[in-house]
Amino acid sequence: MTGYILAIDQGTTSSRAIIFDRQMKIVAIGQKEFTQHYPASGWVEHDPEEIWKSVVSTIRAALRKAKLSASDIAAIGITNQRETVVIWEKDTGKPIHNAIVWQDRRTAPLCARLKKEGLEPKFTRKTGLLLDPYFSGTKFAWLLDHVKGARRRAEKGELLAGTIDTFLIWRLTGGKAHVTDATNASRTLLYNIEKNAWDAELLKILDVPEALLPEVKDCAADFGVTEKRLFGTEIPILGVAGDQQAATIGQACFEPGMVKSTYGTGCFAVLNTGGKLVRSRNRLLSTIAYRLDGKTTYALEGSIFVAGAAVQWLRDGLRIISKAAESGTLAASADDSQQVYLVPAFVGLGAPHWDAEARGAIYGLTRNSGPAEFARAALESVAYQTYDLLVAMEKDCRGAFESTVLRVDGGMVASDWTMQCLADILNAPIDRPTILETTALGAAWLAGSRAGVWPGQAEFAKAWALERRFEPQMDARLRKARLAGWADAVRRTLSRQ
Ligand code: G3P
Repeated sequence: MTGYILAIDQGTTSSRAIIFDRQMKIVAIGQKEFTQHYPASGWVEHDPEEIWKSVVSTIRAALRKAKLSASDIAAIGITNQRETVVIWEKDTGKPIHNAIVWQDRRTAPLCARLKKEGLEPKFTRKTGLLLDPYFSGTKFAWLLDHVKGARRRAEKGELLAGTIDTFLIWRLTGGKAHVTDATNASRTLLYNIEKNAWDAELLKILDVPEALLPEVKDCAADFGVTEKRLFGTEIPILGVAGDQQAATIGQACFEPGMVKSTYGTGCFAVLNTGGKLVRSRNRLLSTIAYRLDGKTTYALEGSIFVAGAAVQWLRDGLRIISKAAESGTLAASADDSQQVYLVPAFVGLGAPHWDAEARGAIYGLTRNSGPAEFARAALESVAYQTYDLLVAMEKDCRGAFESTVLRVDGGMVASDWTMQCLADILNAPIDRPTILETTALGAAWLAGSRAGVWPGQAEFAKAWALERRFEPQMDARLRKARLAGWADAVRRTLSRQ
């Protein structure tokens, strides 16, 4: 048996290894959660060694479960939490510090200073991004400035840097490949998405030596082969994409105008804009959806930092549910007459507000508010935030694309209650596919099609199948009132009133 494809999905809270067969069906999954470190308020770190171990062990676990050996795997596709950065020693592969995670806000003062110097338009013009601590560039700068000797060592060429994909590939190939793909590069604040190259001027502003950074490849390309000692034989790595871009591919959003929204730790809505780099006037991001055969497809992205993380908070912070799956049932039992709003700005607010200093708030509590109302407010906040993103997208693209429905995926979409709430708030149909592992599927397709064992783009798109469409049912007046209440809650939460 050969021709299996292995997808490595290195996410914010867990690492997963998923094996697909030639028919693109999942045959085994290995999964491992790892530690979140919160060394200070608004700071979030991961231990790269723990991530590495979790990736290797989940691959081995998936192979065991599938009763396969590495020689059965035709290729690996990697998808990863984006923007999270690691710097490591070239000689030993040892990280010089914990990874700084995408949610981390420690570079807010640096971003504020650069904005004050009037540099945001330059960064936006070249990278499609905004000056927010979310992106990798200021995180690299922070590490170089705060880890003892790092800058001197970087200048001497002793260090290498990258996002998680790059670090994993470096380790998997035994230090032979220092590479990334165009989607991950497009999230760094250092990559010119029009020219498809690291931008010397931006590197200079953030004082990041180019030699630290990886070579940037297409999403389907030769990224290197795994070291024999790891899994018993070499396996080629043929696909890489950041997780939101991989989900866009896995949802077969290949046509301009198609939108997907993924509900993981955060929520990321991505609209394919084709070969056209659409510039947002509503604080969305322009980014690279994928680059295949040297051809770049762009996207508009709305990023919100807390979606599934709000459910985690109900479970681990408030302890009002014991598993995430209970949140929908609890929310369904909430008192309809209460208007409780949660603005989950736990790590600031992303699109379209980009307020790094805002912090979470809850409004409308009465003596009768309890766990059910908190659960409902948490799930509804995800729908309201998606609404804000889609309104911004519509304004940016007015009339450019025929309207299409929204394809959803990610852990939260298993909840029918949440999906109905989303359809009601958006006043639009929501399509849930049969395969919810779209992120891994996207990465697997990049590798599988490159390896010649999976079909090309058109045939892959045809295989996308609908499991259920949620149609809006909410009364228009009620919807309007709810949205007004949300807008008011957000207004009161913003740090700049
Ligand atoms: O940009 C951050 C994103 O890539 C993280 O995704 O799935 O961990 O919410 P997720």
